[in-house]
Amino acid sequence: MALARTRAVALFGVDGHIVDVEAAITSGVPGLHLVGLPDTALSEARDRVRAAILNSAESWPNRHVTISLFPASLPKRGSGFDVAIAIALLGASEALPVGACAGMVMIGELGLDGRIRPVTGVLPAVLAAAEAGADTVIVARGNAAEASLVPGVKVVAVGSLRALLARLRDLPPPDEPDDTSVDGAAVGAHTDGLAARSRARRGDLDLADVRGQAEARKVLEISAAGGHHACFTGPPGCGKTMLAERLPTLLPDLDQDAALEVTAIHSVAGTLPAGQPLITRPPFCAPHHTASRAALVGGGSNRLIQPGAASLAHRGVLFLDESPEFAGGVLDALRQPLEEGEVAIARSGATARFPARFTLLLAANFCPCAAPKTRDCTCTPSVRQRYLSRLSGPLLDRVDLKARLREVTRAELRYDLQLAEPSETVAERVLTARERTRKRLVGLPWRTNADIPGRELRRRFAPPHRALASLDQPLADGRLSARGLDRVIRVAWTLTDLAGKDTPTADEINEALGLWQGLTP
Ligand SMILES: Nc1ncnc2c1ncn2[C@@H]1O[C@H](COP(=O)(O)OP(=O)(O)OP(=O)(O)O)[C@@H](O)[C@H]1O
Ligand SMILES: [Mg+2]
Ligand SMILES: [Zn+2]
Repeated sequence: MALARTRAVALFGVDGHIVDVEAAITSGVPGLHLVGLPDTALSEARDRVRAAILNSAESWPNRHVTISLFPASLPKRGSGFDVAIAIALLGASEALPVGACAGMVMIGELGLDGRIRPVTGVLPAVLAAAEAGADTVIVARGNAAEASLVPGVKVVAVGSLRALLARLRDLPPPDEPDDTSVDGAAVGAHTDGLAARSRARRGDLDLADVRGQAEARKVLEISAAGGHHACFTGPPGCGKTMLAERLPTLLPDLDQDAALEVTAIHSVAGTLPAGQPLITRPPFCAPHHTASRAALVGGGSNRLIQPGAASLAHRGVLFLDESPEFAGGVLDALRQPLEEGEVAIARSGATARFPARFTLLLAANFCPCAAPKTRDCTCTPSVRQRYLSRLSGPLLDRVDLKARLREVTRAELRYDLQLAEPSETVAERVLTARERTRKRLVGLPWRTNADIPGRELRRRFAPPHRALASLDQPLADGRLSARGLDRVIRVAWTLTDLAGKDTPTADEINEALGLWQGLTP
């Protein structure tokens, strides 16, 4: 019996697990058998691997071949096992030197012509390979830039099975005109990506585009500085959507860890911008109000579990425009990510995990008729009440900043644009405030004031007693809940950091209380 072994990676959520791919050739009825819970796509691998091997001028063993994926209990999805299967098989048929692929992990799909194609989820897969101690990871050329983000492991990008075999046999690489063009395209795409990024940085969007709405602009600044959730209500056309879309322009770049987390999620979802291997800016994700629960928090079939908008917005902004129009059950699904910072999806005995720590931004009209002028509204007070109350309860209770926007006046629209502060100026203040927060939280696991748990707001980060005096009455008459109290204190810390002070005073507490209550007319 001839045996050969190589390794691949199974992904579950954003967690990769090393899989041993073992090929055994025995006497018996000729054929290829896959064992170890392969899903449909993996069974299709059988046909792809066979065609790819034959089209790479290799011979197909006309014997009984068993491919085993171990651990068998691990659910395995997708086409990224093709290369490992082909190499194990050729190893077992003694077409490769013994030990040629020791220490290697192989990730890639095979085309029928033997080409190695890119797959989604390469970043978390290579991270898993590096953690498992692999010294070399074989990937498709299209995945090279993404795979190279992982430190401590050698990434070899190969265009075809033929080229990979030459490498494992220590032969010169075959002439492959197609390959070089793939490479060239990848390089072009990469520079395009850089251009796109700096454009985004300079900003097609800028807070300077927004006239008036001083209060809402302030709310965006506080939200950016402290990571606080916010809600804008107001008449149609007053700039709610416009303001919300500009929140990312106030946020600092992602640090290295956050960038890798965000990139891993987008890698699995297949939403990495072309030619931009590492996402370094906070993402902005705005699902439509007709979005399903799965689209919002993730889900899907056994075969394909996809992260939802909440995870695609990880370390960035999740914007729910026209938020009362979302189906109630759909919004309730946000409770888990809001509380735990991640979404867990259980399928076939295992749980996929996707990080989902985002700043939630809601926008809403006051009423369903959406009349452009408040005076034209035909809704009864009870209809209006019911409309906004769709948002209330668990969700609105978690929103720290609530701003009521007015119509922009004609004078404001005519306002000299140069008077409106650009994003860059506001972003600098945000950065300075975040730096103060970081210094205070040094050695602690939280990055922003919004992350500080309630118990710490009563111990390490308790504001002075006299500053809190104005909260006694709202607490006594029920206008302020216990959860609301914590939120007010967190925002007060952010206001303190923005003001360059050391501890919150009655001023910051009062302002934070006003922002928390914001929607009450
Ligand atoms: N404050 C503002 N400054 C400059 N332009 C504005 C402002 N408000 C509205 N506009 C203009 O009106 C358009 C509509 O604004 P926007 O979509 O942000 O309003 P909205 O409050 O989201 O309305 P709706 O409730 O209908 O969604 C914008 O594209 C912009 O051209
Ligand atoms: Mg809008
Ligand atoms: Zn109305």
